Amino acid sequence: MSTQEQLRFDGKVAIITGAGGGLGRSHALLFAGRGAKVLVNDLGGSARGEGKSESAADRVVAEIRAQGGEAAASYDSVENGGEIVKTALDRFGRVDIVVSNAGILRDQSFHKMSDEDWDAVYRVHVLGSFRLIRAAWPHMREQQYGRVVVTSSAAGVYGNFGQTNYGTAKLGLVGFMKSLAEEGKSKNVHANAIAPVAMSRLTESMMPKELSDILKPEHVSPLVAYLCHERCEETGGLFEVGGGFFAKLRWERAKGAHLPREHAIAPEAVAEAWPRIAGFEESTHPASVQDAMGAVIGPRRS
Ligand SMILES: NC(=O)c1ccc[n+]([C@@H]2O[C@H](COP(=O)([O-])OP(=O)(O)OC[C@H]3O[C@@H](n4cnc5c(N)ncnc54)[C@H](O)[C@@H]3O)[C@@H](O)[C@H]2O)c1
Repeated sequence: MSTQEQLRFDGKVAIITGAGGGLGRSHALLFAGRGAKVLVNDLGGSARGEGKSESAADRVVAEIRAQGGEAAASYDSVENGGEIVKTALDRFGRVDIVVSNAGILRDQSFHKMSDEDWDAVYRVHVLGSFRLIRAAWPHMREQQYGRVVVTSSAAGVYGNFGQTNYGTAKLGLVGFMKSLAEEGKSKNVHANAIAPVAMSRLTESMMPKELSDILKPEHVSPLVAYLCHERCEETGGLFEVGGGFFAKLRWERAKGAHLPREHAIAPEAVAEAWPRIAGFEESTHPASVQDAMGAVIGPRRS
């Protein structure tokens, strides 16, 4: 058993969206079990984002209370993120942690993708995260403590058939989180992203049933809790997590080629330099816009 002191959230208020089931429920139970007051938000609709019901959030609130924890329900769509934050402030008086987890799927191959399926996925994942976090942000800046986790996906990082809408939204959240991390740094407001894998109603049709014991939502939540603890200094990170596997991702850049810019650069020169442009034998790992600009305008290597 670990000899480390337990990471606790006593006195802290955590908003978890989409917490009526799957990963969100598991996050909510873990935070509440470690002393946080939890706002369990869930619209209670279908996996496609149709309909609504109060029962999903209510069930998880009841579960938390039965275990001696403190929780309140919120039934708003994340598209009304301001209302969710207002409910947390009304019920608990502050907001320290925001886990933007609510999600839907509208999978469709690109040639059949409708405007409606594109917009619905954008609205829940991207617009919902923006409205929710924007409403919480001033409070977290003011108190010089805040932790934000957004929920990305391998479908965004790597691409996946039938998921142009979802992949766009999910990698969009990584760009969103990276700029949030830059803006929050000086105020001890940290932002990170997870790309989780877990058996849930969103994934049950894609994964064999036998995997449900290996890929439990409970295997993902400990990373979310750690990232949200006041002792955790990590910000701007993207993590793959699932089935007990935890790993940070980063960008890798090829050594690259500097072609003489005194004269027009011919496409043939690009073709000739291709092994250096696209080869990763001597790669670097840029981590900021400054790193990126440095390579473009800095000393010319070859
Ligand atoms: N399960 C995985 O393997 C996996 C992989 C990558 C990313 N994710 C992401 O993890 C998150 C959680 O998904 P899950 O797998 O637990 O699925 P889930 O369907 O069990 O949970 C999503 C929850 O979000 C709620 N929700 C949907 N739209 C909402 C809205 N507008 N406002 C408030 N609540 C809303 C749903 O009612 C549902 O309870 C999602 O963002 C999903 O895209 C999951």
